[in-house]
Amino acid sequence: MLILAFESSCDETSVAICSFEGEKKQVLSNQTATQIAIHALYGGVVPEIAGRAHIEAIANLTYAAFEEAGVTVKEIDAVAVTSEPGLIGALLVAVNYAKAFAFANRKPLIGVNHIRGHIAATYYEYPDLKPPFFAMVASGGHTSLIDVNSPTKFVTVGRTRDDAIGEAFDKVARVLGMPYPGGAEMDRQAALGNKDAIRFPQAAMQDSLDFSFSGLKTAVINYIHTKRQKNEPISVPDLAASFTEAVVRAVLTNLEKAHSRFGFQTLVVAGGVAANSHLRAALSGFCNKRGIRLCMPSRAYCGDNGAMIAAQGYFEYLAGNLADTSLNAKPTVRSQGGV
Ligand code: KG4
Ligand code: ZN
Repeated sequence: MLILAFESSCDETSVAICSFEGEKKQVLSNQTATQIAIHALYGGVVPEIAGRAHIEAIANLTYAAFEEAGVTVKEIDAVAVTSEPGLIGALLVAVNYAKAFAFANRKPLIGVNHIRGHIAATYYEYPDLKPPFFAMVASGGHTSLIDVNSPTKFVTVGRTRDDAIGEAFDKVARVLGMPYPGGAEMDRQAALGNKDAIRFPQAAMQDSLDFSFSGLKTAVINYIHTKRQKNEPISVPDLAASFTEAVVRAVLTNLEKAHSRFGFQTLVVAGGVAANSHLRAALSGFCNKRGIRLCMPSRAYCGDNGAMIAAQGYFEYLAGNLADTSLNAKPTVRSQGGV
C-alpha cells in the first residue's frame, strides 16, 4: 500500500510517500524544508514563525513529493500525519492539510505520534525488525526509554525530568557561540578534542530509568563563564568532547540498568541525537559486548521527516487506528505510560 505522510511538529516541514508490502518498506519520496536558517536568527525555534513557515512550505512539498515518487493521488491508499506531541501551532498546519487532503480525496486518515514515528524510521534500514524490542528516542524535545511490545503498543519506562539531550547539546553550543541548533557542530568539535580533559558531573538517579541533563548543562555553562571571567582560554574541542562523554555516560548507565531489568535482545536508538557519531560508536560497543542487536535509522532519517510518520502510520492502519475529520493536534501526550 502507498501512504502519503505529513510532518510539521517543530521546525521541519516534511512530506513523504512510502510503499509497504509485507516486510518490504520503501521510501518513494521524502521532501523536507528546514526552517533552521530562520530560527537561527533567534537562537531557537520561535513557535509563531514555525507555524507560518509550515503553511508556506507544505503545498509545494506535497507537489514535489508526488513528482519524486512518480505516483498519482489516485494511487494513495491512506494519509498519515503527526498529530502529537509538538508545538501546537506547528502541528495544526499538517493536521489540517492532511485532513483536507484525506477528506477531498476520500482517503483513510491516520494520526501518528511523533515519538512512535522516530522509532518507526528504523524499519526502513532493518525490514526484518519486529517488536518486542527496547528503544531510546533522543531528540531536541524528547529523551525517552521505551519498551516496545508491538508496533502499536509502547510503554515509556524512563524519560528526562528536565532538558532533552538535544536541548542540552543546543544550549551548551549556544553559550560557545555556535549557531542554532548546535548539536551537529558539537559532534564535529568533539571529534577533535580529548573526552577526558574535563570531568563533568553525572546526575545520580538511583534505580530510576529517568534522565536529568540540566545539572550537567549548568556545570558546563558555569565552566565556560568562569574561564571567560578569568580570561583563560577554552578549548572548544575538549569541552565538546568532555560534555559528549558525560552525556554518553548517562545514556549507557540507564541502558545498563534497563538491560538488567528488561533483558532485551534488540535496541533501537532514534531521534535527531541518534545522528551523534560518538553516541553511535559508544552504543555499538555497549551492544557488541552484550550480544544485543543495535538498530538505528540511517543518519538521514534520524531528524524529523515524513517517511518515519508513513512507517508508523502503516502500523497504526494495520491495527485499525484510524482517525476522522475530528482529529486534533495535541501538544503533549499524557496517556498512561504510553507514547
Ligand atoms: O528529532 P529532531 O530532528 O527534532 C526533534 O524532534 O526535536 O532532533 C533535533 C535535535 C537538535 O537538538 C539537534 O541539535 C540534535 O537533534 N542533533 C544532534 C546531532 N544532530 C542533530 N545532537 C548531537 N549530535 C548530532 N550529530
Ligand atoms: Zn523529532
